[in-house]
Amino acid sequence: MMPFAIIVAMDQDRGIGREARLPWHLKGDLRHFYETTKTTRDRDKRNVVIMGRRTWDSIPAPFRPLPDRINVVITANKSLEFPKGVFCASRLADALALTQKQILEGMVESVYVIGGAQIYQQAIQHPQCRKIYLTQILNSFDCDTFFPVFTDRFQQESVSPKRVEGNLAYFFAEYVR
Ligand SMILES: NC(=O)c1ccc[n+]([C@@H]2O[C@H](COP(=O)([O-])OP(=O)(O)OC[C@H]3O[C@@H](n4cnc5c(N)ncnc54)[C@H](OP(=O)(O)O)[C@@H]3O)[C@@H](O)[C@H]2O)c1
Repeated sequence: MMPFAIIVAMDQDRGIGREARLPWHLKGDLRHFYETTKTTRDRDKRNVVIMGRRTWDSIPAPFRPLPDRINVVITANKSLEFPKGVFCASRLADALALTQKQILEGMVESVYVIGGAQIYQQAIQHPQCRKIYLTQILNSFDCDTFFPVFTDRFQQESVSPKRVEGNLAYFFAEYVR
């Protein structure tokens, strides 16, 4: 099975969401998310983004599916309908397996798990989860949804200089298993 990465933005308390949405708006982080998940070395290939159904729902309709990436939504609900080109899977393992099935064979460069908490929790335990692209926000947002503890399994590989946007400070870090 192909290795995959997690990409996540979290606050000081490992918070990632509140009331089914992102509690912050950080242009620099949205750009970083777009560039990381979209960029491929091979122009003929695309990256896959795997997300939970609630994260799919949290993306405003005009912005989904996330363009230029193969979108996979995990749901147990077989009767949900998704726009053309969007794949759905009933488990993380099936979503990961899909990236190697004939329908996508040779088309996929990298696979990113993009949330939310339920999917991160499952992803972080998976042996093929090799990397975490973390945006660490240095503020607190009273979140109701959290990223799991990960520093016992992953170690920091790189860290960017601190950035400031409005009254928020953050940096990018990469962790490897
Ligand atoms: N800060 C960040 O980087 C970031 C990134 C992404 C999301 N978020 C935030 O995270 C929150 C959403 O996270 P969440 O944990 O509530 O939801 P989620 O992980 O996005 O989605 C949960 C849904 O996924 C499906 N699912 C999960 N595990 C499954 C399994 N084993 N088998 C089948 N289906 C499964 C279920 O869908 P069904 O109910 O349809 O069966 C479940 O309700 C929002 O606040 C969002 O804004 C933050």
